[in-house]
Formats: sequence, structure tokens, C-alpha cells
Amino acid sequence: MRLHEARRDLYRRLAREQGFKSRAAFKLIEANEKYGFIQEGDAVVDFGAAPGGWLQVCSRVVGPSGRVVGVDLHEIRLKERGVVTLTMDVNDPRVADKVLQAAGGKADVVLSDLAPSVSGVWELDQTRQADLTLRVIELAGPLLKDGGSAFMKLFEGERSPEVRDAMRRGFETVRAVKPAASRSASSELYYYCGGWRGGLSGVSSKAALSEATPSL
Ligand SMILES: C[S@@+](CC[C@H](N)C(=O)[O-])C[C@H]1O[C@@H](n2cnc3c(N)ncnc32)[C@H](O)[C@@H]1O
Repeated sequence: MRLHEARRDLYRRLAREQGFKSRAAFKLIEANEKYGFIQEGDAVVDFGAAPGGWLQVCSRVVGPSGRVVGVDLHEIRLKERGVVTLTMDVNDPRVADKVLQAAGGKADVVLSDLAPSVSGVWELDQTRQADLTLRVIELAGPLLKDGGSAFMKLFEGERSPEVRDAMRRGFETVRAVKPAASRSASSELYYYCGGWRGGLSGVSSKAALSEATPSL
């Protein structure tokens, strides 16, 4: 067995033992241990949340006084305390309103583990994933409290500099993170972003452009 397969199996086993829906849970646990961006009592929004590993981690950290909202194309079945889920596309123009309603106001933290269905053509997958991440940075405008944090996945590729620029415009601090539970061979990286500047970050995703352009 290769090292990365052994590590994947280890995190799968740990996830099963600790009752997490996915081994992805350990990526968030590790990053939060380092940067402490999710705290007791926080309101957290998680984009691309199915099957729900990150939501479970958030629910445990924020406790009874916190609130967690998960959004995914796929329905999420979780019984965790304080978790509300929305079955929606992040590009749906109603998503910000629905999330605000579910969270009861702006969030302290926005998370994104969004990944498109893999086509097998790397350039296409990377560009689609970059669009999803840009959409999340854009949604931080209406959804994230000033000074709030984000933790987001990005497939590294040609469009990474564009996405990192958008992160730096929106946040005071941007740090790349490669959690141990993320396969070293995979080109996914995560970014911890702290200190949301609020207001306009100058990001325009495809969804925003089509919302702003009336159909002729
Ligand atoms: C890697 S999984 C997330 C795993 C999750 N963090 C966990 O801990 O269980 C990526 C998710 O992104 C979702 N996704 C992809 N495109 C989306 C979109 N446009 N809107 C909402 N969710 C999307 C997929 O359905 C998939 O469930």
C-alpha cells in the first residue's frame, strides 16, 4: 500500500470511529486548531457542505449558543444540534437571502469545500472550481460580519493567482494551508482568510455578472 493510500485509510477509520460523515472533517479540525477561526457561539456558513463532516465539526465547536448553516446541491441528512441545511446551488441568486434567514443574520465565519463533479479534464475542473471559490468570496459581502474569517478550498492551477488576489482584496490576512488529511498528491490547497474588510471586494463571479446583465 502506498503512503497516501495508508493515510487516506487512516483518516477514513478515524472518521468512522469519531462519528464523522467524511474524512474531510480532519482538514477543518487541523486548520481550526492552528488558526482558531471557529469559536464557541459563532454563526458559521458552510458552502459545499455534503455529506456533512465539516458541519459536524462546526456544531461541536460552536456549541448550543452557535448556529451552523450548510449549503449544497445535494440534500444533507444530519441530526446535529444547531445545524440548518439548504439544498441549493451557490450560484442561485436567492442563496444570500436564504442563508441570512437561516443563520438569523451575518456570519462570523464562511467555509467552502466546494468542488465540481470531476470531468477528468484538469483545466476544466480547475476553472470551474475557481469560479465556485470566487462566488464564495463574493457572497462574503452580504453574509460575513466585518472582521470575520473564511476557510476555503482552491484547486491550484492557472486561475489561482486571480482567486488569491480576490482573497487579498477582501481579507487582511491570507494563509495557504495543506492539511495532513488532504492527499499530498492532490492539487487542492486551503486558504485561511482573516479580517474581512467588508464592503466591496471587487470580485465578480460569472453568477454575479449574469445576475447584473438583464436578458435581452
Ligand atoms: C468535497 S465535497 C464537501 C465535503 C464536506 N466539506 C464534508 O466535510 O463532508 C464538495 C461538495 O461541493 C458541492 N457542490 C459542488 N458544486 C456546488 C454548487 N454549485 N452549489 C452547491 N454545492 C456544490 C458538491 O455537491 C459536494 O457535496
